Amino acid sequence: MIPGDGIGPEVINAALGPIERAATKHGITLELERLPYGADHYLKTGETLPDEAFHHLRDDADAILLGAIGDPRVPGNEHARDILLGLRFRLDLYVNFRPVTLLHPDLTPLRGNGRRIDFVIFRENTEGVYLGRGRIAGEEYVAEEINTAKGVDRIIRAAFEWAQDHGKRQVTMSDKANAVPAHKIWQDKFRQVASEFPEIEPEHRYVDALAMELVRDPERFQVIVTNNLYGDILSDLSAALVGGLGLAASANLHPGRGGAGLFEPVHGSAPPLAGKGVANPMASVLTGALMLEQLGAPAAAADLERAVRATLAAGVRTPDIGGKATTADVAAAIAEQL
Ligand code: NAD
Ligand code: IPM
Ligand code: MN
Repeated sequence: MIPGDGIGPEVINAALGPIERAATKHGITLELERLPYGADHYLKTGETLPDEAFHHLRDDADAILLGAIGDPRVPGNEHARDILLGLRFRLDLYVNFRPVTLLHPDLTPLRGNGRRIDFVIFRENTEGVYLGRGRIAGEEYVAEEINTAKGVDRIIRAAFEWAQDHGKRQVTMSDKANAVPAHKIWQDKFRQVASEFPEIEPEHRYVDALAMELVRDPERFQVIVTNNLYGDILSDLSAALVGGLGLAASANLHPGRGGAGLFEPVHGSAPPLAGKGVANPMASVLTGALMLEQLGAPAAAADLERAVRATLAAGVRTPDIGGKATTADVAAAIAEQL
C-alpha cells in the first residue's frame, strides 16, 4: 500500500476494513505492508520512489494499492511522475482499466429513469504525451505524443480480448485522427485487430464527439479504448455520469503476465477535503474489489461490490453523493453489509 497524499491515507485506511473483511470471508488472508512514499516523505528526504522500493514492489508484491499522489507543496508534481507514472511505466502496466457502472439509479445526474450505464474504458497507460518527451526552445514549448505500433496494438488487443471474455459485442476506439496525423496508427491497428474478432462490432468516434455522446447516451457504450490523455479525461467525465470520482475505481495491469498490478481510485488527493473525514471511500473499496479479482478471488470481489451497492441503497453516503455520513461511517456500513 502506498496511501500517498491528501485524502489518500484516509480513503485507503477506511477501505481496508471492508477489503479485509471480504477477503477473510472468502478464505483469503492479505499480508499488508505500508510504504511511506508521497509528498511528506519527498519533502522530508528528497526521495520520491527509491530504486530499492521499486525493486521490492516489482519482485515481492502481488498487488500495489495506492491512494492518491498530489500535494500543493509540490507544484511541479515531480513525486507523482516518479511514483504513480513511474510505477505504470516501469512495471509496463499498459492497461489502465476503468469501469463505469451505475451502482444506484439516483447517482446519475442525467435525466430519465431506469438507466443502465455500464461500460469500461481501456486507457493506454505507457505512451502518449505522458512520457513527457519534448523540449522548451525559446518561446516554443513542445510536447511530443508517442504512439508506437506495439503500444497501440497491445491496448486495442487487450480491449477486444476483454470484450470477448466478458460477452460484450462492441468496442469503440477513440482518437483524433482528423486533426493529428500520428493517430493514423490507431486507425490502422484498430482495423487490423478488429478483423481478428468477427463477433465484436468495431466502432470509431473522434474524441470530441465521443465526449458529447457519452453525456447524451452513455448506455450505448460497452468498451472504449483510447490513448493515455483522452482516457484520463474521459474517465473523469464518465465517473460524473455514475456518481462522481468518489466511486470511480481503476486497475493498472499488464494482462497475462505475473507480477503486481497497481490499483488506485481514479480520483486525486482532493486537498480541500483532506483531514476532514468526509472523503468518499467507495472508490477505494471498489478498487479493492478490482484488486481481489486480479488476485484470483472473484467471489470476494463480487461480494465487496454488492456490499457497496447495498450501502448506497441504504443511504449511507458521504456529502459528494448527497449524504451526511463520514468516511468512517461509510466504511463501517460496507463492512457491516459483508
Ligand atoms: P481530485 O480528483 O483530487 O478532485 C476533483 C474533485 O473531486 C474535487 O472536487 C474533489 O473534492 C472531488 N473528489 C475527489 N475524490 C473524492 C472523494 N473520494 N470523495 C469526495 N470527493 C472527491 O482532482 P484535482 O483536484 O484535479 O487534483 C488534486 C491533486 O490530486 C493534484 O495534485 C492532482 O495532480 C492529483 N491527482 C492524483 C491522482 C492519483 O494519484 N491517481 C489522480 C488525479 C489527481
Ligand atoms: C489519474 C491522474 C493522473 C493521470 C495524474 C495525477 C498524473 O489524473 O490517474 O487519472 O493523469 O494519469
Ligand atoms: Mn485523471
